[in-house]
Amino acid sequence: MPVMFHKPFIASHSEDKLHQAVQAGSLAGNGSLSREAAALVQQITHAGEVIMTASCSAALQMCATLLRIESGDEIIVPSFTHPASVSAFAAAGAAIRWIDIVKDTRVLDIAALPALISPRTRAVVTVHYGGVSADMIALRRFCDTNGLVLIEDAAMALDASWQTKPLGSWGDLAVFSFHQTKNIQCGEGGALCVNNHRFLEHAHLLQHCGTNKAAFLQGEVPAYTWQVFSSNYLMSALQAAFLIPQLQQCPTVTSHLRNLWQHYSRRLSSVLSPEQLPLVPPQSQHNGHCFTILCASYRQRQACIAFLHEYGIQAVFHYQPLHRAPVWQGAFDAVELPVTEEVAATILRLPMHFYLTVQDVDAVCDALATFFTG
Ligand SMILES: Cc1ncc(COP(=O)(O)O)c(C=O)c1O
Repeated sequence: MPVMFHKPFIASHSEDKLHQAVQAGSLAGNGSLSREAAALVQQITHAGEVIMTASCSAALQMCATLLRIESGDEIIVPSFTHPASVSAFAAAGAAIRWIDIVKDTRVLDIAALPALISPRTRAVVTVHYGGVSADMIALRRFCDTNGLVLIEDAAMALDASWQTKPLGSWGDLAVFSFHQTKNIQCGEGGALCVNNHRFLEHAHLLQHCGTNKAAFLQGEVPAYTWQVFSSNYLMSALQAAFLIPQLQQCPTVTSHLRNLWQHYSRRLSSVLSPEQLPLVPPQSQHNGHCFTILCASYRQRQACIAFLHEYGIQAVFHYQPLHRAPVWQGAFDAVELPVTEEVAATILRLPMHFYLTVQDVDAVCDALATFFTG
């Protein structure tokens, strides 16, 4: 049997809520189903307030608008991430200051922050790679000391925490993805967590095309009016209806993925060097979103992908350095991020999803043992 890299999790009885939504006949956003989904995300993340969005990218666009970026303002963000982590801020006019990552955790290198801040720095975007975060206490302290907004790109990090405090509750703002590649999914979907109260009123305006419709729906104003420029960021009732049962089964999903992660880690410790294996700091409770290894070179990584393919095992590369992307037309050619470059060239993502079994993981590890040790 082929071992697939990913297979989206679909909770049992997922059709029931969809049926309920169709029966209710109201499929637009911000109704009772969307509020139910938001309450479940809030339960998992302990975030201040959760606003369900059509995608994580949409939530990031809201973050960029919430910052009220002015020309020359700077944002610090890793280059080893998805384009959506950066795009909205750049499109809003921010200058991007790229930060390197730590090799063994693949997350932003806090030690590199002091050299990157300037009087124009507005925010740090930290990306919780595979559900593992940087030291959130140190990062929070750094941002507070320097008057910076902390944004968590927690696209991959639902149900993970740092020192038992859930990811999504540390930043002033945090975003999640429910894209089908994530542990918990509804095809496309996202959430914005607002933990700093000063952003809340503006966030409510932004989600409804810049109107105060949220206040109107709460009965706080007799009619709603257009207040700021924005877009429609709402998650539809259909997305929310599908997402609810997935969220309800989140603990089961996380527990299974963490077990598989531990099994990979145990099995591969006799095949690979510690430097090739991912490190999870003891303060981090990850969600098993992905298991990655580092090969010795780009050529070895590509050879390993082809070798595993022969065994019916699908393994894949991951993010390419964003500061080198064609969109910048060479603007960041002088920027050196050696760890980002190395990790991007050598990282290999192994199969990981809810339907994967311990036997599948054994098959992957056996094949890797043959590849690496002959
Ligand atoms: C770190 C990160 N941020 C943002 C996104 C964008 O998420 P979405 O597809 O929900 O817009 C992704 C997607 O995989 C991601 O990995």
